[in-house]
Amino acid sequence: MEQIVYSNVECYSTLLKIITENKIESLMLVCDGAFEFLKIKNDIERLKTVCKIYSFSDFTPNPTYESVCKGVNLFNNTGCKALLAIGGGSTIDVAKCIKLFSSMDSKVNYLEQKIVENSIPLIAIPTTAGTGSEATRYSVIYYDGEKQSVTDDSSIPGYVFLLPELLSTLPLKQKKATMLDAFCHAVESFWSVNSNEESKCFSADALKLIMKYSDEYLNNSEEGNKNMLIAANLAGKAINITQTTAGHAMCYKITSIFGIPHGLAAAYCLPKLWRFMLDNMDRVCDSRGKHYLEDVFDNIAKCMNVDSPIKAVEKIENLLSDMKLVLDISLDDNQLETLVKSVNTTRLKNNPVALNEEDIRSIYIEVFRRN
Ligand SMILES: [Fe+2]
Repeated sequence: MEQIVYSNVECYSTLLKIITENKIESLMLVCDGAFEFLKIKNDIERLKTVCKIYSFSDFTPNPTYESVCKGVNLFNNTGCKALLAIGGGSTIDVAKCIKLFSSMDSKVNYLEQKIVENSIPLIAIPTTAGTGSEATRYSVIYYDGEKQSVTDDSSIPGYVFLLPELLSTLPLKQKKATMLDAFCHAVESFWSVNSNEESKCFSADALKLIMKYSDEYLNNSEEGNKNMLIAANLAGKAINITQTTAGHAMCYKITSIFGIPHGLAAAYCLPKLWRFMLDNMDRVCDSRGKHYLEDVFDNIAKCMNVDSPIKAVEKIENLLSDMKLVLDISLDDNQLETLVKSVNTTRLKNNPVALNEEDIRSIYIEVFRRN
């Protein structure tokens, strides 16, 4: 089913229409603690007159497999027929996993079973503009402390609501980090070896919107919030086709060691990675060749309203410094080696310039270099 995206619609009547059309008598609301403080809560309360609603919020950011299982049990025991996720990336990921796992054998580890598509309607309402989880087939959960990616096309929500008012109460720091995540998705997808014409259109449109509306979004205008939600959704659609590349592969451990928000960690890696690639264009491994990649880099720069890739790199670095987000952490040798060893080599294969361990080490050193 092609995803239907509702941008800036009247939430209650649109939800009611979906519930009526799909004859949904009971649904499971997957939400986090912030839901209590959102205006949309009133719309959900009103829906209770036409549909039974069971809430599930027994999970944390970086959700565990066990918490997803609790959600699956609640879903099946209550006979719910649909899922509504309202929250950030983790919340939407939990709902996507519940959808997939709920039609599997509960006596066998879900992660060891073959995923079989089901038709359970899933509605996603993101409360941040960044992860793009509502547009992708990937969900991240943790099993025995290890990151697991659960991937299936059928987990992509069939309905998405992009509601700018949900962003208006977000802390500024969170808005900055999530915007940077969307930005990195758009750029990494653009240069990924897996890109195609469709993914590059999504990336280009996302990048142009981020550049045009970043100030308005950070100033919390409705127009800014609306367009950043659209941009994050487009960037999500782009990485749904291509996956991310070395920037994301390098940033996960920065978050887990230093507690730096994901989008920010990704944005620290991206300009240093890009600089490295520009200096090593003789090592292009995209089968479309060096000239192709040079064109891609030029196009990314154009979408960022500058006339060369190096100016695009500087623009990201200046953006971080203008937002007072310069990384100011010293890295010791042990931490450096932990970071180097953490990098997922499969994700590196998506990178258009070949990188070895020594390259990764030198890029990390640049990321943490204090001026
Ligand atoms: Fe990301």
